[in-house]
Amino acid sequence: MKYGALYGVGVGPGAPDLLTLRAVETLKRADVIALPRGSDYGASMAWRIIEPVVGKRSDQERLFLTFPMSKEPARLRRAWDVAFARIGERLENGRSVAFATEGDPSLYSTFGYLHREAQRRWPGVQVEVIPGVSSVTAVPAVLGAPLADGMERIAIIPANYGVEDLVAILNAFDTTILMKIGSEMPKVVEALERTGLLHKAAYVAKATMPEQKVATDLRAVRTERGDCFAMVVVARRERSGVLAGDVSAQAALSEV
Ligand SMILES: C[S@@+](CC[C@H](N)C(=O)[O-])C[C@H]1O[C@@H](n2cnc3c(N)ncnc32)[C@H](O)[C@@H]1O
Repeated sequence: MKYGALYGVGVGPGAPDLLTLRAVETLKRADVIALPRGSDYGASMAWRIIEPVVGKRSDQERLFLTFPMSKEPARLRRAWDVAFARIGERLENGRSVAFATEGDPSLYSTFGYLHREAQRRWPGVQVEVIPGVSSVTAVPAVLGAPLADGMERIAIIPANYGVEDLVAILNAFDTTILMKIGSEMPKVVEALERTGLLHKAAYVAKATMPEQKVATDLRAVRTERGDCFAMVVVARRERSGVLAGDVSAQAALSEV
């Protein structure tokens, strides 16, 4: 069977002018734009980002797909069964589907599961990933500070899957990025206080969106809950820059 092509399109962190040219071109060309949302009645963040650039067109379908904010496999499986059926029907009819996903499709994205399953469900289907500006790089731009420099190492943690080992991680890495904060802020602040790193942390919610919020004293947002688009960056900055390291580290770098 000749299926329509499937695209995983990263639409960036929020500001429509952070969409890439390739994302815009792919979204405009697709027969169907698939748009994830958290509930049947809620708005789709991906649509909010692309609407000013792509617009509604009568010859292009917008397919809203609901993925509940849940870690419960049975609930998620039900949502995915519906999504696979609806996307599959369109691909089988030879229509191209652009699945718009916030940030970049390769990082904690709804598209990840679709990408893994695509060949099994629709053998031979053409799948293309269009990278997007990730929140991981948008947030440091908002903060005006680099994530890592020279020999520094970075850890990325999905906080809602547990932060019990956070003290060890904070001590082992130069920069720690906490995504999917959920209700874990109190534990995050506690770990930062225990490690003496509270003053090295910043909180950014809805980076690059009109509602953007930045807090450099995390005690002020200790009780913040449920913002789906919030991140904490902890940067020790003790080894920043190739000139800051010891002589042997510099020599090793010059040999690379
Ligand atoms: C399901 S993940 C998706 C990440 C996305 N694929 C990316 O590349 O940015 C959602 C998490 O990304 C982070 N995030 C996404 N957009 C953000 C934004 N505009 N500002 C701050 N954090 C954001 C938050 O930590 C949020 O909980």
